[in-house]
Amino acid sequence: MVVVQKTLLFFRGAQMATTSNEPSLSQEDWDDLMMPDDVFSDEFVKQEIAFMGLDKSFSEDGVVLTLKEIHRRCDDYLNKNYRGGELTCPVLSIDGLVWMSLTPMEIQSNYMAWRATGGLVGMGGLGLGYAPMRAASQEEVEDVYVYENDQRVIDFFLHHHRKREELKKIKVIKVDDLRDTITLDEDFPEFDSFYMDIYQSLLPNEAIDDWKLMASSNLAQEFRFWGQERAYLEGLCHEIIGPEQVPMYDRVFLRKWQRTENSAMQNTNLDYAYIEELLEVMLEWF
Ligand SMILES: C[S@@+](CC[C@H](N)C(=O)[O-])C[C@H]1O[C@@H](n2cnc3c(N)ncnc32)[C@H](O)[C@@H]1O
Repeated sequence: MVVVQKTLLFFRGAQMATTSNEPSLSQEDWDDLMMPDDVFSDEFVKQEIAFMGLDKSFSEDGVVLTLKEIHRRCDDYLNKNYRGGELTCPVLSIDGLVWMSLTPMEIQSNYMAWRATGGLVGMGGLGLGYAPMRAASQEEVEDVYVYENDQRVIDFFLHHHRKREELKKIKVIKVDDLRDTITLDEDFPEFDSFYMDIYQSLLPNEAIDDWKLMASSNLAQEFRFWGQERAYLEGLCHEIIGPEQVPMYDRVFLRKWQRTENSAMQNTNLDYAYIEELLEVMLEWF
């Protein structure tokens, strides 16, 4: 088991928190300012489940939504956890494979993708449309373009949310494969931010090439992929990188996690060489 030292992300705190013309804030106040939501709490998870309004199960043509009351080991994004029935989470499967759910892990790991956005936002992978809906609910966001390769998932999303205000800002684009679209489509928009989440499992090998693709195609000022904060945390734990190499928003996210009561990280068994290569590629761009 890897237990992250509580001090890992706190040193250099003061320099990071303020510049000469900003009011002097404590590290904790600064983090709350940058990331106002209590993302690691059950209240936040419940609020987000309610926001999505997916309260009825559904099954059509291989797309299945079930509502699961959780009574078992159910880890958070970074912490180990056990749940005793306090949460009922919508789970989306496509042709028998789970692609997205509103478990604490998914809600916490999608947070930065919608919170730290503005202007024209691009997202790869619709799933339940949680990150797109949340991005669209932000005042700073003008439009959200979502690229998805499964028409059934698109139909479910558009039908379910047809009465929602957020949908006015969301444009869903059917593609065969988002990677080809980014590579080949000369009219691919230039986004203010882009979020890649076409993954069924956390930090797969493809994330390395996807990062290279996003960096080399200049598709956005800022881009992220699902699991990014976790990659930085693994890098910190294995001393592949130091805190100063972690971008500011990810550092704030990890520091807020470290302030939770039980920040005992579950073991992901991720391969050291993989994390090293992924971080090398990620840090090259910054
Ligand atoms: C994990 S879900 C996305 C979840 C989403 N972030 C949310 O907040 O609900 C991934 C989605 O990507 C889609 N997908 C998988 N591979 C793709 C590809 N190559 N191009 C476009 N979409 C893809 C899947 O059909 C699925 O709907």
